[in-house]
Amino acid sequence: MAGTLYRPYRSYSMNRIFNLGLCVLALSLAACGKQEPKTAAAPAPTEYLVGAEATFAPFEYQNEQKEIVGFDVDVMNAIADKGGFKIKFVNTPFEGIFNFLAQGDRDLLASAITITDERKQTVDFSEPYFEANQLIVVPKNSKVTKFADLKNMKVGVQSATTGDEIVQKELGKNNPNIKRLESATLVMKELEGGGVEAVVSDNGVVKNYIKNNPSEGFRLISDPAFSKEYYGIAVKKGNTELLAKVNKGLAAIRADGTYDKIYAKYFADSATDSAK
Ligand code: ARG
Repeated sequence: MAGTLYRPYRSYSMNRIFNLGLCVLALSLAACGKQEPKTAAAPAPTEYLVGAEATFAPFEYQNEQKEIVGFDVDVMNAIADKGGFKIKFVNTPFEGIFNFLAQGDRDLLASAITITDERKQTVDFSEPYFEANQLIVVPKNSKVTKFADLKNMKVGVQSATTGDEIVQKELGKNNPNIKRLESATLVMKELEGGGVEAVVSDNGVVKNYIKNNPSEGFRLISDPAFSKEYYGIAVKKGNTELLAKVNKGLAAIRADGTYDKIYAKYFADSATDSAK
């Protein structure tokens, strides 16, 4: 019958194809609609990738939604706001973290990184943005009172950190008693499980850990062998343009009180603390 011949979308499958086609068309129209007219669009602000090893609360850690949050994130966002650029934090292992800059996989590192002369040979650092020091963590009943007491003990450190360096110096580089793990959290777990007798790590992190795990009964010890450390934001060696933006932003957030607000949010209760 001629009538049926001219009803082309009669069959179920043909209808489906037609409807799908409409959907695709509708979707692409919707997507088109979202785009700003080419002539009026401002150039998208550069988005810099910021590397951080995000198990280092309160400096950088993941919240329940797996977003990287913390002191360093707030500081970096405030700096980026001032400089009119965008940033995105990317979880990055700490050991070898500086290579990510050299290879161009990250533009910045904000990961509670201590500025050291050795590191300065491979990357450039911003002005210091945080003062820190190492602390020894031991179980409450430990006999340890000073750094030298760790000489023949099993000591846990996060690999490639300044804590790792100082413990290697005291105990010997290849001393099998040094347990080097990839995150500070793993190191603290190791202490809880008795796999190590002491931990050496950054004050802010161990204090935060103890605050959140009060039942573990740990004790903190500071030692004159631990000198003051200063955290800096790292850029690829020679990236003076980005470094200048960061330093400018840092100066601005210090000047207008933003930095102090962020500091108070994370460290309000440790401002007058002796083991700061
Ligand atoms: N401040 C120490 C260092 O620079 C430890 C930093 C570790 N940072 C981290 N996000 N895991 O070596």
